[in-house]
Amino acid sequence: MIPDHVPEENVYYGSGDLKKESHVPSFDKYKELYMKSIDNPDEFWGVVAKDFFWKSKPTGPFLSYNFDVTKGEIFIKCMEGASTNICYNLLDRNVHERKLGDRIAFFWEGNEPGDESVVTYRELLQRVCRFANVLRSQGVKKGDRVSIYMPMVIELVVAMLACVRIGAVHSIVFAGFSAESLCERIMDSQCLLLITADGFYRGDKLINLKHLADEALQKCRDKGFPVKRCIVLKHLSKEPEESMDSHSPPAKRSCPDLQVPWNPEVDLCWHALISEASDECEPEWCNSEDPLFILYTSGSTGKPKGVVHTVSGYMLYTATTFKLVFDHQPDDVYWCTADIGWITGHSYITYGPLANGATSVLFEGLPTYPDVSRMWEIVDKYHVTKFYTAPTAIRLLMKFGSEPVQKFKRKSLKVLGTVGEPINPEAWHWYYNVVGEKRCPIVDTFWQTETGGHVLTPLPAATPMKPGSATFPFFGVVPAILNESGEELEGPSEGYLVFKQPWPGVMRTVYGNHQRFESIYFKKFPGYYVTGDGCRRDKDGYYWITGRIDDMLNVSGHLLSTAEVESALVEHRAVAEAAVVGRPHPIKGESLYCFVTLKDGVAYSQMLEAELKKQVREKIGAIATPDYIQNAPGLPKTRSGKIMRRVLRKIACNEKDLGDISTLADSSVVEELFQNRCCPSV
Ligand code: WT7
Repeated sequence: MIPDHVPEENVYYGSGDLKKESHVPSFDKYKELYMKSIDNPDEFWGVVAKDFFWKSKPTGPFLSYNFDVTKGEIFIKCMEGASTNICYNLLDRNVHERKLGDRIAFFWEGNEPGDESVVTYRELLQRVCRFANVLRSQGVKKGDRVSIYMPMVIELVVAMLACVRIGAVHSIVFAGFSAESLCERIMDSQCLLLITADGFYRGDKLINLKHLADEALQKCRDKGFPVKRCIVLKHLSKEPEESMDSHSPPAKRSCPDLQVPWNPEVDLCWHALISEASDECEPEWCNSEDPLFILYTSGSTGKPKGVVHTVSGYMLYTATTFKLVFDHQPDDVYWCTADIGWITGHSYITYGPLANGATSVLFEGLPTYPDVSRMWEIVDKYHVTKFYTAPTAIRLLMKFGSEPVQKFKRKSLKVLGTVGEPINPEAWHWYYNVVGEKRCPIVDTFWQTETGGHVLTPLPAATPMKPGSATFPFFGVVPAILNESGEELEGPSEGYLVFKQPWPGVMRTVYGNHQRFESIYFKKFPGYYVTGDGCRRDKDGYYWITGRIDDMLNVSGHLLSTAEVESALVEHRAVAEAAVVGRPHPIKGESLYCFVTLKDGVAYSQMLEAELKKQVREKIGAIATPDYIQNAPGLPKTRSGKIMRRVLRKIACNEKDLGDISTLADSSVVEELFQNRCCPSV
């Protein structure tokens, strides 16, 4: 399956000198290790597991599973019977066994240049222990769910690892999500407690986070699910001089617009609680298959699904992918620009890097604030060696040309990474030539919230790169391409991307709904995990992701379901029906183009359009704000009533070649929609 020879033409290697020190220094070595990981996973992962601390040893095989719905329930188990604690492995092991206590875990760089701090492994351990004790004193126990809604601050890492230390299950909700989305997630996972912050700045925009959190908690209360406690970090408010009482609100800093509503029956002040807590905290020893965290991702039916990852497999997989895909070395400074609220941040800001004792940059701000050189300024400031970002950020910066990049030297950079969506060759070349100056290999990492870690990816010193291809599978991963009838295609081909067997970090279930897990990922093609992505394999065996084949959109590297946006639109009293499609966007990848059919007697207006945009924003979050809304008195439907999205996608792009539309019930609606397109200029 992995080619014997790699092509010699049109491939890239990077001219830097990674090979000398690399963990996987050649393509041959990659192939040898890959075969080993497939033929004898117990041995391959056994070596990896030796680096970690286990309270007790596994009692069975390394992996056991069933991927075939026709043979019974789907399950995946890794290192069953073993017990450990991830927080212990990330912190105590690094501080005490590996003597890395003084090593910097994070350089924190705030939104405002000059606002910065550092935390060492020893300090992080101490802060986590204290906060873990706080959670215990609030009655949080092993298995309880804790919701976290915080900006990109060190306390977010402290909060998540404190949960892990006591065996509680964190459910982090990206701080860009709306109150409604937070409420939905809190209720779905029945969270006992919420951890949030007063507010934060994104560029020059103030986000009153506590206000949103309160709104979410009120919604939960209205729906009969009162959350008893909310711990509030003061991020923007000033430290009060006098001793703090945990039931009083934080004072305001030089931030007059900050609103920190306070409900003394529910709200507790982070700082007051932690000042009284002890530094000693015995970790809770967890079984390998105990849940580690829940992270919600969009589902194609509209309702987000709580992806569940478990302890041992996720730890081993994120640690190993981080080490090999970024070719981690002790003197590296690594920077992943994602938010911890997404899986990229979970796996490659918190878990993978800390498991390796890495030093990372944790950045609160935006690539364009205060100007479009900010990223490169940070790279030089901290001598970043490995840099990981998304195609949408690359395209955004590319627009401003090479000058803002070249203002900074970037001499420290060795490896560049990308994730979130297919990277177009133009952006790839700019990243490679301008940012990395042809020296740095680009690791185009394909993976999903569900996969826990990278599944298709180059290794920087080993894999010849082709711009736009995620290249080959990581160790333990066996991809296949299927046609519509579920037959495996060999050689050059295109079809559904599936995986034939589990790797340690794959998701275990959808929280509270195992049936949904089985039907989304395993029903279509029994025996395979179905990714939902289309994929092409070229004559050299390289994998090229062609994009989602379900009703999912990828906006700036974030998945959104069309159904989710449609249901937010039809909740508006004026809307009878809505259909949402993706329209290619030069920076975001895709933008949202919404067709709405209004109820009888309602007139379309600019004001209504603004209301609809606001409605979606408030229901889901800013990333889901529609770019275009078109009044659609009629929608193209088949005779059986199914909306033909394929046709709507063409209308959104003003492409007149519609293909076969003979199944349309009424083809005149199409002409009308073309005439009333809302973005004729683009
Ligand atoms: C979907 C998963 C994994 C963290 C970020 C997104 C798309 C992701 C790539 C890539 C082509 C990619 C896929 C996938 N995707 N990385 N390197 N090349 N497509 O996580 O929100 O779970 O989205 O993102 O469509 O299925 P997610």
